Amino acid sequence: MQLEDIDLTDSRNFVDHVPHEWFEYLREHAPVYWHPMDTAPRGGFWCVTDYDDCVTVNRDYDRFSSNKLGSLFQDMDEANLEQQRLMMLNMDPPMHTRYRRLVNKGFTPKMVRDLHEKIVGFADDIIDSVSEKGSCDFVEEISAELPLLVIAEMLGIPHEDRRMVFDWSNQMIGSEDPEYQIAPEAAGEAAMGVYAYADELSNRKRENPADDVISVLLGAEVEGEKLDQLEIDLFFLLLIVAGNETTRNLMSGAMAAFFEHPDQWQKLLADRSLLPSATEEMLRWVTPVMHFRRTAVNDTTLGGQRIQAGDKVVFWHASANRDEKAFDDPGTFDITRSPNTHIAFGGGGPHFCLGANLARMEIQVMFDRVLERVPDIHLDGKVQRLQSNFINGTKHIPVAFAPSAPLGR
Ligand code: HEM
Repeated sequence: MQLEDIDLTDSRNFVDHVPHEWFEYLREHAPVYWHPMDTAPRGGFWCVTDYDDCVTVNRDYDRFSSNKLGSLFQDMDEANLEQQRLMMLNMDPPMHTRYRRLVNKGFTPKMVRDLHEKIVGFADDIIDSVSEKGSCDFVEEISAELPLLVIAEMLGIPHEDRRMVFDWSNQMIGSEDPEYQIAPEAAGEAAMGVYAYADELSNRKRENPADDVISVLLGAEVEGEKLDQLEIDLFFLLLIVAGNETTRNLMSGAMAAFFEHPDQWQKLLADRSLLPSATEEMLRWVTPVMHFRRTAVNDTTLGGQRIQAGDKVVFWHASANRDEKAFDDPGTFDITRSPNTHIAFGGGGPHFCLGANLARMEIQVMFDRVLERVPDIHLDGKVQRLQSNFINGTKHIPVAFAPSAPLGR
């Protein structure tokens, strides 16, 4: 293999599998590598694959900005950037700190813990909807459903509106994958639908506050400051996007990993107390968000390379989580792994995933219910992966299991 063979910009190179062999080569030969890319400023980007360097880029916001050119791989024009910069994911401290302190009030550990019983109920309802059939598409009928129900519940979206919000969410995500391609206008229209809906929902919650994130955010204050309506709308949109695809693809990718490692499934079946460590290993193994992007604020160095102010820097969680310097035997899927310092939720910087504990709870509950109710679940066709170099995604997993009666709560 040679460096010239590697092309991480082409999403088609992620369809068959995540190109871990390329990441391994890069970590060994060029851990901070100037990756050519015609359309990027200066014709390329710094491709960071070493665990420690990824953590540095993630934490050191003074040197590596989320705000300058956004945190996404795509290079955007100024008009688009202006919009993106209003989202917390694309802010730097101190602006980000103020925003984060406000939204933290709507995402307290207690609010997440209180959802546990509801999440168990949702997971059982989801399995009820397929249990008699004895087969289903694990992605569409199981793992896609739970995060949508949970986020709708948290945001206080009434049942009758959920389908509409789910449809907008799917349209906004779109992707480079031919199966999901939609016109750019459709994504824009869906976003407008979400904003209008968030406005209307906020008005309703102002009149009748309830026990949900929007009601809390409407009243939240830090040092005399509140979120304005546009900020609430944007947060609503970010939650819908950030909370759904990630959790769905974690559960799908983990199910596929268990099919490839049946001994690990048997181990978990025999001892459900392994669910917490299994969840961390699923996160490390799948790493649903494969990279984020930053922009160098000043001239600096990283991994012995001289980086210029304004350079695009892309750091790969997907590579860091398989770095042999950070994990023993990183190519082994081991649900008892400990310690497991994966960076699937971020490397401990200011943007560390706001929904990490919620996601962990969803994953544990869903797998607990699957292990309990369809323990013999097995692959019944071909796993189809998403074409994306950003989300490690799975589109379809046909599965079969012994049919059983729904619990019908
Ligand atoms: C397995 C599931 C998930 C994964 C792998 C994941 C991953 C990530 C990652 C990598 C980041 C950026 C961290 C950084 O740059 O330091 C992030 C940020 C974020 N995530 Fe998650 N996430 C998941 C689930 C969720 C859920 C369920 C929610 C909410 C309901 C959520 C909401 C957010 C938000 C709001 C941010 C931005 C935080 C900020 O900018 O301060 N995520 N997530």
